[in-house]
Amino acid sequence: MRYGFVLTALLLFCFAANAQNKPKKISPDLFGIFFEDLSYAADGGLYAELIQNRSFEYSPADNRDWNSLTAWKYQTDGFGYGIISVETAAPIHPNNPHYILLDIQDEGQKGVGLENSGFDGIPVKAGKNYDFSVFLNVISGESLPVKVALVDKNGKELGSSSFTAADKGWKKYAEQIHVNFDNDSAKLVLLIKAKGKVGVDMVSLFPEETFKNHKNGLRADLAQVIADIKPKFMRFPGGCLTHGDGVANIYRWKNTIGPVEQRVEQRNIWNYHQSVGLGYFEYFQFCEDIGAKPVPVLAAGVSCQNSGGTWKIGSTGQKGIPMDEMKAYVQDVLDLIEYANGPATSTWGAKRAAAGHPAPFNLEYLGIGNEDKITGVFEERFRMIYDAVHKAHPEIKIIGTVGPSPNGEDFEKGWKLADQLSVGIVDEHYYEKPQWFLKNTTRYDSYNRRRSKVYIGEYASWGNTLYNALAEAVYMTHLERNGDVVRMASYAPLIARIGHTSWNPNLIYFNGTKVFPTVNYYVQQQFAANAGDVYLPGMVKLKGEKTTLDTTAGTSVVKDSATGDIILKIANAGTTQISGQADLSAIGKLPESATLTVISDNPEVKNGADNPQAVLPQSSTVKLQKKWAFTVPAHSLTVVRISAGTVGKQK
Ligand code: AHR
Repeated sequence: MRYGFVLTALLLFCFAANAQNKPKKISPDLFGIFFEDLSYAADGGLYAELIQNRSFEYSPADNRDWNSLTAWKYQTDGFGYGIISVETAAPIHPNNPHYILLDIQDEGQKGVGLENSGFDGIPVKAGKNYDFSVFLNVISGESLPVKVALVDKNGKELGSSSFTAADKGWKKYAEQIHVNFDNDSAKLVLLIKAKGKVGVDMVSLFPEETFKNHKNGLRADLAQVIADIKPKFMRFPGGCLTHGDGVANIYRWKNTIGPVEQRVEQRNIWNYHQSVGLGYFEYFQFCEDIGAKPVPVLAAGVSCQNSGGTWKIGSTGQKGIPMDEMKAYVQDVLDLIEYANGPATSTWGAKRAAAGHPAPFNLEYLGIGNEDKITGVFEERFRMIYDAVHKAHPEIKIIGTVGPSPNGEDFEKGWKLADQLSVGIVDEHYYEKPQWFLKNTTRYDSYNRRRSKVYIGEYASWGNTLYNALAEAVYMTHLERNGDVVRMASYAPLIARIGHTSWNPNLIYFNGTKVFPTVNYYVQQQFAANAGDVYLPGMVKLKGEKTTLDTTAGTSVVKDSATGDIILKIANAGTTQISGQADLSAIGKLPESATLTVISDNPEVKNGADNPQAVLPQSSTVKLQKKWAFTVPAHSLTVVRISAGTVGKQK
């Protein structure tokens, strides 16, 4: 008989005597991640493309200082000359209208071409290969020698490759560049060494090694740090990005799939650009790679209420998709479900298969709306989408929305609508001071278990100090206790590029070469990697003043049915150590030891680029007894994992 089964039976038996201490099933998907393309999270971030503005689609609409040649320089260093222009007459694809036309009249000593400075420079490593590609259209018809090189700031060549471009009409050329020197801020130079007229577009450079080595893949180090959280789900692509700045800016998933040169790029609501090279296929694939359930969030047929900067004047900029276009919009939503789950023979499943994934992505959750203002315009459109999805796909768990705050008008109206429609799950958002989290630890105790379940889609305390992280940890122990009504929770935002942050705090910071997890990250990781699906109440008792403990500390005990492991968490955001006792007698025969992980330090400490490892989880083993007396330090999170495997081996 398996140890896990015996343990469950024992626990259920022991707890049955005391109804208050009854184990309860909690969500198996409690702790996940929220990915939004803000603060360069996608382009210049998780998406491994090293060329900035590769398709010459940047424009002043993205950012008033930008245009098609942003991040590019016309290269005539060898005294060549010609004419460079941005054209739209004969693009690779109508979705990708801009390209460069080089009319080279004298190639000089080195050739004439283009130089790209990447995202704050192009980081390259000695001994590594980089996959270069470009679309060229040799309008003048002759064979043109092309050289592509990575160079340092003084022009020293770090690696290069040469090829001949010959054909009229757009053609993709792909080369591998082997790099011989490390450099954090190289440039890519493309030089054509002959007279001629040539169109240039989609200049691309990826490290050969991406996360799981996918083509058009993700930055390996950053993706790995995200994967190490072991999130149960990943929400994407936002946030405000989802519902966009005006109706035309609403994120349309269909624009983000298929060959990258045919995707529809657009302005990012956070004042930069979305190449959508990281699109819906790549999001689904990443979720699969890291074992997280995909949670796409689609606009509820309305734009962000802050569209056009209207939050500044307090009115709503929310605009609805015109009603005569809503039928098509609703169909887009249904098509997404087919894209994710339909057979490879279905219209949209076939597109997934064509991208290299014939098997379904097993979509289970779908968000409709992002903290929208609950207006008549919203309600009408939300109902249309909700009814259509619910009817066609009762198996999909729909997540509704209840505004941007933990209370208030939109919160109330959103919940009322959820009640009327019996929406399965609603999405609550809150960014608050750490004290708010410590004072609101009973928030979900009184939630009606017969109403919608809750997804806390975005939350964070305002800061990255250990104290912030511990306030979140205390709160998360209460989320576990309420894991029967809180279905999911994700800290937000997830990642931000240093120097391009549109929002603080974030869970992970990065630059071109390094990744800096915050203390909040390590707390999220401890909870997600040590999650359970059964909550075991009453096993841990703390000593001390109840009133103090209620606002500084939190404990929880869960069982992970998959492994049979029991996990204790003790979060202490207070200024003094706390003692207590864990009654482990219900577990039966205890293993000799368990894994003990502690995050603890001065509450003001944070991990940053200057001190990335200031606070790290420290793991050791601890000897356990049936009545295990413990003391945990001030300002600490302690996680004890009692492995069922260890017990099983003792027989
Ligand atoms: O997480 C940052 C932003 O906060 C999200 O885009 C939005 O949904 C919320 O207001």
